[in-house]
This record gives sequence, structure tokens and C-alpha cells, in this order.
Amino acid sequence: MTKRKRQARRSLVYLPMLLIVLVAIVTACAAPAAPVAPAEPTQAPTEAPPAATATPEPPPTPTPAPKMVSPLASASSCQECHGEIYDEWAQSYHSKTLTAMMGSFAKYIKYVQSEKGALTSADMMGCLGCHGPAMRFASEEEMLHLATLVVDGQKDAVSDIGVDCVSCHTLAASGEPWVHPEQPLTVYGPLRDAVEAKGGDGQLVHESVFSADMGKSEMCAACHTYITPDDIHVEGGTWDIVCSLTYDAWEVAAKGKATGNQCQDCHMPKRDGFAAQVSGVTMPARAVPSHTFPGWHSDAKLAGATDMSLAAKVEGGTLVVTVTIVSKVGHRMPDT
Ligand code: HEC
Ligand code: HEC
Ligand code: HEC
Ligand code: HEC
Ligand code: HEC
Repeated sequence: MTKRKRQARRSLVYLPMLLIVLVAIVTACAAPAAPVAPAEPTQAPTEAPPAATATPEPPPTPTPAPKMVSPLASASSCQECHGEIYDEWAQSYHSKTLTAMMGSFAKYIKYVQSEKGALTSADMMGCLGCHGPAMRFASEEEMLHLATLVVDGQKDAVSDIGVDCVSCHTLAASGEPWVHPEQPLTVYGPLRDAVEAKGGDGQLVHESVFSADMGKSEMCAACHTYITPDDIHVEGGTWDIVCSLTYDAWEVAAKGKATGNQCQDCHMPKRDGFAAQVSGVTMPARAVPSHTFPGWHSDAKLAGATDMSLAAKVEGGTLVVTVTIVSKVGHRMPDT
């Protein structure tokens, strides 16, 4: 403050024109509690204002809402024993399937409200069926609360909702995603000899059931084939988002079904490690499938998606260069 005042006085001697601007700055600094944004630094003849005089940032609008928790076991409840898989999943786009499409979802919600007058859980599940399947077990009230958060753009408050562990391991994998899972939870996985999932207190956390489908493309088809249902048509009958037809494309692609390549073979490469880690219990070594699910958001995945070769020869005094690009993708590329 003192430094600024000194500089301000000096400036006043030379630049009387700046008087009004400077008075405004000094007034703002004198009342730091006022929710007034500090004057633009470029307007002041001094350098950046000293940190001690900085006015506190005005609170972001809207005020952050409390975090909503998934009505079925949140991914964070699996983190304790499946830490590595959790970390991989957390950086994957499966953990962002709601936050990454909030804008479109808000548009859809507003459209349904204006057309039908009221929004129902069934309308919401039209998107959440694939973008947050565990919301199926939410009450009507919770669902409408979620709709408000989406329309308000409250990303942090809805970040627990997405394609989480139970979306794949309990709902999609059971083949009966509409049935409320019994307690304790049943999870389906690729292990035939899973160690009992018990915590330190000896309580069973979940039943483990082997499912041959976990290694097959059909498991992914639950969501990666989007046929617009009749009741979700928007804007005069045409819905402007084609979510994913990857499964359909895989069924006919040269590097897809015909070669026996499953989605998991390319998208869930295996590493040596442990399927779970529980303190005091020796776990069997396993070839653990990666849960990072790289796709079009991943530069590395895109870079490895093709083989490119160049061949050059001179024909009649002209240099002819042939570029051959061979796709290694098990579907179209890009495929949205
Ligand atoms: C049958 C499953 C399914 C339904 C129903 C569905 N989606 Fe999707 N959606 C997907 C999948 C799978 C992807 C990922 C596509 C990809 O990455 O290639 C996706 C991707 C998207 C994206 C792009 C996300 C990004 O990161 O840019 C948006 C936006 C989107 N969906 C919005 C919606 C909205 C809005 C609804 C409801 C009207 C909806 N989806 C319903 C499966 C579905
Ligand atoms: C998009 C679907 C999907 C999501 C989300 C998902 N998984 Fe998986 N997970 C799979 C599939 C598919 C396999 C089997 C892959 C294979 O065998 O090739 C698997 C395998 C596993 C295994 C067996 C590991 C082994 O050594 O074989 C464990 C444990 C597991 N997942 C835990 C989790 C946890 C915990 C989460 C959440 C943090 C999670 N998964 C999220 C699809 C998913
Ligand atoms: C208290 C520890 C603990 C917690 C918490 C826990 N698990 Fe497990 N889970 C295990 C153990 C132990 C195994 C067996 C690992 C092995 O045999 O290598 C296992 C195995 C699995 C498997 C493989 C099952 C199979 O038959 O292939 C899946 C899938 C799985 N857990 C998902 C989850 C999900 C989803 C959650 C959260 C809702 C969760 N686990 C929470 C300890 C736990
Ligand atoms: C419960 C629904 C669901 C299931 C089951 C599912 N996915 Fe997804 N997946 C989605 C949605 C929704 C997205 C869109 C993420 C986003 O917002 O961009 C997505 C995105 C992806 C992406 C794109 C990642 C990126 O960079 O954008 C890949 C790759 C993918 N999924 C692979 C798989 C594979 C492989 C399986 C089967 C083992 C699978 N998914 C099972 C719903 C699902
Ligand atoms: C032969 C390997 C291979 C197979 C099999 C394969 N993929 Fe892919 N996939 C890739 C590669 C490489 C990319 C990155 C390039 C790209 O985005 O097209 C990709 C990208 C994706 C994306 C990002 C979206 C996009 O527009 O490209 C999704 C979603 C996806 N795959 C899902 C699946 C599903 C679901 C299956 C099974 C039905 C599957 N993939 C089978 C190699 C494969």
C-alpha cells in the first residue's frame, strides 16, 4: 500500500490525467472486503500491485453445490483395495462420462422440460443409461436434483456420477442392469479363482462371480452402440449427437470381429501386478487389464493407430512418392 501510494504521488506530479483512475484504485484497496474487482492492472502506472494489497478474489458464481454421491457403491469405495485400477480408471474418460457431456445434457434437459412441461427419471436415464447407469437406483427427487446441477453447470458436484466400477462390473456385466443388486454387492469379473474380498474386519465386501463375457466385445456393446430411442428425439425429430457406434463398426471392420480381436485386446492391455491389495493378505500375481481406456482423447493411442510408409521412385524424370497408410484400428477411424 505505502509503495503504491508513493508511486502514485510521483505519477500524479507527471501525469495529472491519471488522477481519477488512481483515486479509484486507492479506494478499492482501502475497503478490501467489498466484492469489487480490483482495477485492471494495465490502467495503473505502477507494476503489478504488491501481493499484500490484493483484494480477495470475488467468490465464483454460482456457489458450489455439495457433492452428489452415487446411489450405488461409488468408485471411491473400491479404491482402498483396488488402488492401482482406481487410479487408472480415474484418468480415463469413463470417469468423466457425465462431466464431459454436461453442455449437451443440459440442452436435452431444457428441451424435454419445454416440450413436455415436466422431466422424469426415465427422461434422464435416456442419457444416464450409458453416461451414469447407477443413477437408475436414485429416487425421483435425487434425479431432479441432478438435473438442476447439470443445468447449472456444477461439474464438481456431479463428478461422482459416471461409468464407474459397478456400471461395468455389476450392471452391464450382469445382463440384468435393472435389477437392484443384492447386498453385499455382486461383482462380475474375469477371475475364476478370486480370493474372498474381505476387509480388515473380516466382513465380505462383495461376492465375486466369474463371467466369460468380461473379455468380450459384447460387454462394451452395452453402451458403445447408440440407437436413438424414439422418445429421445430432439429438435424436430433429429438428435444431433451420434454417441458411439463403435461396436457396430467393429462387427464389420477388417481388424475387428473377423480377426477375433476383442475391444479389450486393444483397449485393456495387461500388465503384471495384483488385482487387489489387502494389508496382511498375500495376493496371487495376475496379468491385470489396464483401465485407462485410451481413445480419441489420447495422443499416444492416435499416434499408434496407423502404420505409414513412404516409397519414392523416379518415373520419366518425375519423382513419384507413394504414401501407404494402414489402419490398425478395430473399427472406423475416427469413430464417433
Ligand atoms: C447407448 C448408450 C448411450 C446413450 C443412451 C447416450 N450416449 Fe452419449 N455417448 C455414449 C458413448 C459410448 C460415447 C463415447 C463415444 C466415443 O468416445 O467415441 C458417448 C459420447 C457422448 C458425447 C461426447 C463426449 C465427449 O467427450 O466429447 C456427448 C456430448 C454425449 N455422448 C451426449 C449424450 C446425451 C446428451 C445423451 C442423451 C440424450 C446421450 N449421450 C445418450 C453412449 C451413449
Ligand atoms: C468400462 C467398463 C469397466 C469399468 C468402468 C471398470 N472395469 Fe474393471 N474390468 C473391466 C473388464 C472388461 C475387465 C476384464 C478385462 C479382460 O479380462 O480382458 C475388468 C477387470 C477388472 C478386474 C480383474 C483384474 C484381473 O487381474 O484380472 C478388477 C479387480 C477390476 N476390473 C476392478 C475394477 C474397479 C475397482 C473399477 C473402478 C475403479 C473398474 N474395474 C472399472 C471393465 C471395467
Ligand atoms: C476390502 C477389500 C476390497 C474392496 C473394498 C473391494 N474389493 Fe474387489 N476384490 C477384492 C479382492 C481381495 C479380490 C480378489 C483378487 C484376487 O483374487 O486376485 C477382488 C476382486 C474383484 C474383482 C474381480 C472378480 C472376479 O471374479 O473376476 C472385481 C471386478 C472387483 N473386485 C470389483 C470391486 C468393486 C467394483 C469394488 C467397489 C464397489 C470392490 N471390488 C471393492 C477386495 C476388495
Ligand atoms: C456403461 C456404459 C459403458 C460401457 C459398458 C463401456 N463404455 Fe466406454 N464409454 C462410455 C461412455 C459414455 C464414453 C464417453 C466418454 C466421454 O465422455 O468422452 C466412453 C468412452 C470410451 C472410450 C473413449 C475414451 C476417450 O479417449 O474418449 C473408449 C476407448 C472406451 N469407452 C472403451 C470401452 C471398452 C473397451 C469397453 C468394454 C470393455 C467399454 N468402453 C464399456 C460408456 C461405456
Ligand atoms: C485392433 C485394435 C482395436 C480394436 C479391436 C478396437 N479398437 Fe477402439 N480404438 C483403437 C485405436 C488404435 C483407437 C484410436 C484411434 C481412433 O480414435 O480411431 C481406438 C479408438 C476408440 C474409441 C474412441 C472413439 C473414436 O472416435 O475413435 C472408442 C470409443 C473405441 N475405440 C471403442 C472400441 C470398442 C467398443 C471396441 C470393440 C467393439 C473397439 N474399440 C475395438 C483400436 C481398437
